[in-house]
Amino acid sequence: MKKLADFRGFAFDLDGVLADTARFHSIAWQRIAQNLDIPWTDHLEAGIKGIDRAASIALILNSVNRYDEFTASEIEQLMQQKNELYQEFIATLTPDDVLPGIHQLLAELKAAGITMSVASASRNAPGIIERLGIQDYFEGIVDPTTVTEGKPAPGIFLEAANILNLPPEQVIGVEDSSAGVKSITAAGEVSLGIGAEAKEAQLHFESTADVTLAAIEEQLKNLD
Ligand code: BG6
Ligand code: MG
Repeated sequence: MKKLADFRGFAFDLDGVLADTARFHSIAWQRIAQNLDIPWTDHLEAGIKGIDRAASIALILNSVNRYDEFTASEIEQLMQQKNELYQEFIATLTPDDVLPGIHQLLAELKAAGITMSVASASRNAPGIIERLGIQDYFEGIVDPTTVTEGKPAPGIFLEAANILNLPPEQVIGVEDSSAGVKSITAAGEVSLGIGAEAKEAQLHFESTADVTLAAIEEQLKNLD
């Protein structure tokens, strides 16, 4: 049995956890795939979540065994095109795009004296957090360019604990992707998953709206 008092920090994924931006990554990659006549599948839709740009384009091209058709500079161009499309979408973000229940959760955690950091694979994270107006809740945002291996490797969540000056065991990592839950587990943190693709997490909620301190406390009772 565990309790909230065993933890001193929370590390939050961004896309699909704090903000409703996972759909923008998806739409932007779908356009790139469409231009290349690559069919969009459920496997791609779930698979691109949590992984970085280079891993995403590799997943998409490998889904039709076409990765080798492209030179390194062509791949670079595809990633850049996707990011330009993505940046057009995120330019429209406002504080209303913070996902349901998240404002209350961040406020509850802050009031409870729990420190927080952002553990996103996205290089666009600092700009998005700023647009959403939630930057003051966080001690820091992991810079994914300083981490050698992205999710599902532990680096991003380890760095998120490091920002908080906490050992991983005292941190709960929050994710909506399968790659992200694996990253949290590999980092030695407790995993809190949101939605269908994060079911393997130790604590699990269908929606961000369901995540409250009381509900987390209740689920922690079932952990060894
Ligand atoms: C993650 C998303 O948060 O960030 C992925 O779940 C995305 O879909 C990754 O590929 C990298 O984002 P960016 O903004 O650096 O291309
Ligand atoms: Mg995510």
